[in-house]
Amino acid sequence: MIVLRTDFIMWCVCQSKTIDDDDGLIYRNKVYVKDFSTQSFGSTEPGSLHGSVRRYSLSSQDPPPKLLGAETFTMAELYRVTENFSPQNKIGQGGFGMVYKGRLRDGRMVAIKRGKKDAYEARLSVEFRTEVEMLSQVDHLNLVKLIGYTEEDDERILVVDYVANGNLGEHLDGTYSKVLDMRTRLDIAIDVAHALTYLHLYADRPIIHRDIKSSNILLTSTCRAKVADFGFSRVGPSVDAGATHVSTQVKGTVGYLDPEYLNTFQLNAKSDVYSFGILLLEIFTGRRPIELKRPSDERVTALWAFRKFVLGKLSDIIDPKLEKTPAVLSVIERLAELAFACSASSKVDRPSMKKAAEVLWEVRKDYLVEHQKEEKLKSDRDESIRIESARSYMSVDSQTVLHPNSNHRRPR
Ligand SMILES: Nc1ncnc2c1ncn2[C@@H]1O[C@H](COP(=O)(O)OP(=O)(O)OP(=O)(O)O)[C@@H](O)[C@H]1O
Ligand SMILES: [Mg+2]
Repeated sequence: MIVLRTDFIMWCVCQSKTIDDDDGLIYRNKVYVKDFSTQSFGSTEPGSLHGSVRRYSLSSQDPPPKLLGAETFTMAELYRVTENFSPQNKIGQGGFGMVYKGRLRDGRMVAIKRGKKDAYEARLSVEFRTEVEMLSQVDHLNLVKLIGYTEEDDERILVVDYVANGNLGEHLDGTYSKVLDMRTRLDIAIDVAHALTYLHLYADRPIIHRDIKSSNILLTSTCRAKVADFGFSRVGPSVDAGATHVSTQVKGTVGYLDPEYLNTFQLNAKSDVYSFGILLLEIFTGRRPIELKRPSDERVTALWAFRKFVLGKLSDIIDPKLEKTPAVLSVIERLAELAFACSASSKVDRPSMKKAAEVLWEVRKDYLVEHQKEEKLKSDRDESIRIESARSYMSVDSQTVLHPNSNHRRPR
């Protein structure tokens, strides 16, 4: 059972904290604060990593690590695949750089992320290596797969699996004509929860994604979710050694950032749980975490939704694009409770990702039962309307047959 803490309200205070120039910077809504060296806390922490988790130096001067399973591409091959990085093949743009699509010689469709060459180069080089390193270690149906990479002169390029159906944020914003129904939204939330559970329980030290948000959730043609963008991810505290957190610079995206981590620089897997809570709210409200164009009391989606929750007006927060069927209304309270528990201001009040996935699975099961009942009722109703109209048609028809002079008489 997930306990809902009302001190969640503290969220607002923390999210509105200003990060001044001495502390770090906000660049395209992404947060980079204090680059002090990383340490683990909570107990004695061995210096090296256990299990299959490998760590490489992230200094931008070092040569790129040679990673098992990841292919290396030449620039000539990537120019060919993207038709000289043609704008027609551009599929997106983010903090790291442009994203293009292309087809490899063996027929595989790939997304090619080309790092920018600008003032943030050193930062991007670290992001690039982190992403290559992390992606080459993980393998899960709900994670974008790394195919290969290139680091040549000032070029840093990642080649990953192409995910054909855009990102979740675009779907929620209505970029695509088809509205995601409740079942699909629940499936997407469960896919993300499974991907994070896998990362958090990976080997002895969890992998913390640190940038869970709707633009980093890519959808396949069947609307299954794949978590992308590992540029900010890092290895967490050693659970076996009893460590509770690592102290590290703050990275993430405004609106999704764990306020406790922001204030203490202490990171553990629960920071991803926080971002997941905010994402879950986004999934069923259809609103971005922060919407500056709204009236002031609606700008922070989590606070606005929480106020509605307290007032017992939960049906107000359901995405207007979703039909408010009894089945949707029957699960909205549990979904909201889970989202608020995940985004509790203190880490100890947040469930693990595994627990959150289990709750979502139960919610999905109950939703489907209600939804099926609803569909059955609807088809019974349609059927009785069809029978009724057929009956009245037959009675009219039989009357016209009885009147041979009628113009409506059907030819026999
Ligand atoms: N593997 C992929 N397959 C298909 N499209 C992709 C893939 N990776 C990225 N994209 C598209 O490119 C867009 C930009 O991605 P990118 O991760 O660089 O930036 P972002 O997530 O929008 O912003 P940020 O830099 O803050 O993470 C994504 O939103 C997505 O639509
Ligand atoms: Mg991204």
